[in-house]
Amino acid sequence: MMSVRSRPIGSATRGTTNPNRLRRMDRWIAAAHAGALRRAADPVAVDLGYGAAPWTAVELLGRLRTVRPDAQVVGVEIDPARVAAAKPYERDGLSFAHGGFEVPLPGGRRPLLIRAANVLRQYDEDQVDEVWARLCARLAPGGLVVEGTCDEIGRRHVWVALGPEGPRTLTFAARLGSLGTPSDLAERLPKALIHRNVPGEPVHAFLRDFDRAWAALAPYGALSARQRWIRTAATLRADWPVVDGPHRWRQGELTLRWDALAPRG
Ligand SMILES: C[S@@+](CC[C@H](N)C(=O)[O-])C[C@H]1O[C@@H](n2cnc3c(N)ncnc32)[C@H](O)[C@@H]1O
Repeated sequence: MMSVRSRPIGSATRGTTNPNRLRRMDRWIAAAHAGALRRAADPVAVDLGYGAAPWTAVELLGRLRTVRPDAQVVGVEIDPARVAAAKPYERDGLSFAHGGFEVPLPGGRRPLLIRAANVLRQYDEDQVDEVWARLCARLAPGGLVVEGTCDEIGRRHVWVALGPEGPRTLTFAARLGSLGTPSDLAERLPKALIHRNVPGEPVHAFLRDFDRAWAALAPYGALSARQRWIRTAATLRADWPVVDGPHRWRQGELTLRWDALAPRG
């Protein structure tokens, strides 16, 4: 049995965060996880590794409450000083706790969502599978882990979504007006893929096709970057297992089945 006194699993890393940084991820979570959130007996989410300030946890609560008004968020941080700094921001539905990848929640509760943004990038690639397995094992039935990376102000994101059974999807999300070419997102690939953008790996082939389709559809850019993205996504669907559609593409998102992009070997 896990002891509440045991040392948190993981290691403290840089605490960089920013207000509004994770809005794209929050928005996607609220849409993709809406059904589970509405059905949940205990709609509790964890913002794991929220950083040097509690903004992302505050914002996640606000976004989840648009779907489920009694949703709760627990910010979990491995750095105790960051937990102490966040405590004054606690309020109805929002609390902060010291912990790591064991994801401690009082009373044996299991989270319906664990969001870990810009946390695993500071670990080694060979730690990812174990951390994922640990997080997935903590989920409530129907729960979701969302693990990924973004730039400092949240214009470019890539994240993996995992269910209790393991990884399901990979989502690219961008502020389209500032995107040169889709492979600009490569520098924000999650830890499992950041070292795999090399020939012979599926994610490399995908980003090559993404760039090609984007280039071929440049004329739509005269209408808007959004129109160009939507046409690009529709083109990619012929060869890649795209699981979302125009409604999400309009937001500058594209989600694919994880197994098509998973690292080889
Ligand atoms: C770069 S900050 C990210 C902050 C915020 N999630 C964001 O995206 O803006 C990473 C934070 O994760 C924390 N962290 C690292 N490993 C952790 C773990 N195993 N459990 C909980 N927090 C962890 C670090 O202490 C750091 O504050």
